[in-house]
Amino acid sequence: MNDTYRAAAFLDKGGTGKTTTVAHLAVALEELGHRVLAIDLAGKQGDLAKHFGVWHEYRDQVTDDEAWPNISTVFDDSWGTIASKLGETVVDDLVIETEEAPSLIPAHPGLDTLDSALGNIDDARDRYTRFEQFLTDFVDPLEYDVVLLDLPGLTNNITYNGLWAAGNAITPVEMGPFEAEQAAALRRDLDKIAGNFSVQIDLSLILPNKVDTRTTLAEEYLASFADTYGDAIAPDYIPYSQDIRNAAQRGMTAFELDSPSATAQDACEAYLTAAETLMTRVKEPVDA
Ligand SMILES: Nc1ncnc2c1ncn2[C@@H]1O[C@H](COP(=O)(O)OP(=O)(O)O)[C@@H](O)[C@H]1O
Ligand SMILES: [Mg+2]
Repeated sequence: MNDTYRAAAFLDKGGTGKTTTVAHLAVALEELGHRVLAIDLAGKQGDLAKHFGVWHEYRDQVTDDEAWPNISTVFDDSWGTIASKLGETVVDDLVIETEEAPSLIPAHPGLDTLDSALGNIDDARDRYTRFEQFLTDFVDPLEYDVVLLDLPGLTNNITYNGLWAAGNAITPVEMGPFEAEQAAALRRDLDKIAGNFSVQIDLSLILPNKVDTRTTLAEEYLASFADTYGDAIAPDYIPYSQDIRNAAQRGMTAFELDSPSATAQDACEAYLTAAETLMTRVKEPVDA
C-alpha cells in the first residue's frame, strides 16, 4: 500500500509564489509531523535549494562528477539500468537534507535540455509518465508522507510529467484581474490534460498569495476567487510580507525568522492551515 501523497505547485506564469509556496508548505507539513520530500523541477537556476540556503554548496558539486545522477537523469531511457547498478540507495544520492527539515532534490542544469529530449519520445504516454514511474519505483519505497513538486512556470513536457505524477495542482495566485483569468485558464488546462490522457488532475489548493488587505480591491478579488473556486480555495490567504522576501534572500523560510513581523506570523499561520487542508484534499481529492 502506498501512503506517500503527492502535490505539484503549478501556474503557467512566473513570480506568483510557486517556489515560496513549496518551501513554506514543506516546512509547515514537517511542523505538523509529516516527512516531506520537496523536488525542484522548475529549472536549472535552483530556486528551491536557494530558498533553503543550500544551492551554493550543491552547485559547486555540479562542476564535479559528483552531481551524477541528478534529477534530470531520472527521466533517461537508461535510468532503470543506472539505478539498479547504483543499488538501493540511489535516491539518497539525489537528496540533500536542509537545516529546516524537509529533504530536497534540487534542480540541475540537465533540466535545461530535458524538455526537448522528452519531446523526442514518440509515445505520448511514455513521454509524460517518466516522472510518475520514477516516483512510484524509487521514491514511494522511501515512505515519505508527502512529496511536493515545484514545476516550471510554463506548460512544457516537464510540467506535464509533474502534473501527471502528482495528480493535482497547488496554485498560488495573486489578487488581480489577470490572475483570475489565469486561474480559469489553469482549470481548462488541467481538464484538457485530463481529457487527452484520461487521467484525473485536480485543483487541490488555490492559495491567494501576496494579498494586501489594505486595499478593498484585494478583498473583492478574494471574495470572487472564493466564489469561483469553492472547495479548492485555501482557508486563509497569504499576506504580502516583505519578511518572506527577505527570508528567501537569506536562504530560509519565514518560519525560521527570529523576530518575524506580524505579516510574516500571519503568513506562517496561513501556511500551516493550508498544509492541513492540503493533506485532507490529497487524501480525498475535491472535485473543484
Ligand atoms: N507572500 C509574499 N509576500 C511577499 N513576497 C512574496 C510572497 N510570496 C512570494 N514572494 C516573493 O515573490 C517573488 C516570486 O516568488 P516565487 O516563489 O519565486 O515565484 P514563482 O516560483 O512562482 O516564480 C520572490 O521574490 C518571493 O520572495
Ligand atoms: Mg519558482
